[in-house]
Amino acid sequence: MAILVTGGAGYIGSHTVVELENAGYDVVVCDNLSNSSKKSLERVAEITGKEVKFYYADIRDHEKMTEIFEKEKIDSVIHFAGLKSVGESVAKPWEYYENNISGTLVLLDVMKKHGCKNMIFSSSATVYGDPAFVPITEDCPKGQCTNPYGWTKSMLEQILSDIQKADNEWNIVLLRYFNPIGAHKSGLIGENPNGIPNNLMPYVTQVAVGKIPYLGVFGNDYDTHDGTGVRDYIHVVDLAKGHVKAIAKIEEKCGLKVYNLGTGNGYSVLDIVKNFEEATGVKVPYKIMPRRPGDVAECYASADKAYRELGWKAENGIREMCEDAWRWQKNNPNGFDD
Ligand code: NAD
Ligand code: UFG
Repeated sequence: MAILVTGGAGYIGSHTVVELENAGYDVVVCDNLSNSSKKSLERVAEITGKEVKFYYADIRDHEKMTEIFEKEKIDSVIHFAGLKSVGESVAKPWEYYENNISGTLVLLDVMKKHGCKNMIFSSSATVYGDPAFVPITEDCPKGQCTNPYGWTKSMLEQILSDIQKADNEWNIVLLRYFNPIGAHKSGLIGENPNGIPNNLMPYVTQVAVGKIPYLGVFGNDYDTHDGTGVRDYIHVVDLAKGHVKAIAKIEEKCGLKVYNLGTGNGYSVLDIVKNFEEATGVKVPYKIMPRRPGDVAECYASADKAYRELGWKAENGIREMCEDAWRWQKNNPNGFDD
């Protein structure tokens, strides 16, 4: 039996394919390559020594998804496929709701028709909105999202919960990621944003490599230890390993489960700059800018539930996250186009 990884050519997906293969699972990837390159899977094969079974497919394409389920014996789905740019979602809400929500509904229909009722879903800490408290436990109420991307995650969590409630043969694990950064130690795979990055770490590495002159720090007047925004950065390989643990949970027929995947540590923007400079020896010039609309002051996880119930905890610290992000960027200044 195999695990279907939708969006498996992307940043988190490609790292998860490596960890699944390392753990001995059979993996099938489908991706429409709208935000990724097939080269990532060639690099995955270089790391694992095993070709990745790949279907060029859009999850909204019922016929193509059916073909995959007819050809392959799919036991569980890890569902990464989706559009993920917060700013773009504000400008193109229809595209985000259509791709993320309609796509997931098509996928769920094909799964159900083939008797596959196991799914791990990529959710996000964004569903907590401006969190009621930190560290955020899974019991923290969901909040108001500030953009359509966030709402697609919040709504899909609701849809998946309702489906599981109506039919308890479904096993669904909602994984709420905090801020994934870093890259595989090999330097062969990593985050490959299109154009100017929106997220902090790819921005920092592109400043460090000389592609962008300086980092804009969005606000230094938050109620945090140095005034800049605090987040829970998690190494992407740790995050990937969390999915392997979640698959084991699904195999126990777990029903509906929700887990935060974070480290439990909060770092500010200036902490990241300092740690990056210390880890790499490269200076990151920055300028203080106005706050970015929609940003919250602090967002970091309680990672206790995932440890208690999945036996998972993040192993890499901030230094490794910075070193590994930098190795990837330095070796591949143009991402997979090098
Ligand atoms: P990514 O863009 O690198 O990967 C997503 C993949 O899905 C891409 O390869 C893209 O080509 C593919 N895809 C998009 N729409 C598709 C469709 N209709 N059919 C088939 N493939 C499609 O993003 P990522 O950072 O690896 O994120 C993976 C998942 O985790 C996403 O659902 C994202 O929303 C979620 N997530 C990411 C973060 C983060 O900060 N990176 C945080 C929380 C949650
Ligand atoms: N930041 C800067 N300058 C930049 C980019 C970011 O100062 O150029 C700051 C932000 O203001 C924030 C912190 O760095 O304080 C982190 O910002 P990111 O954009 O890297 O991450 P966010 O926490 O805003 O958002 C991320 C993902 C979302 C997800 C959210 C919640 O991008 O998809 O985490 O998990 F929804």
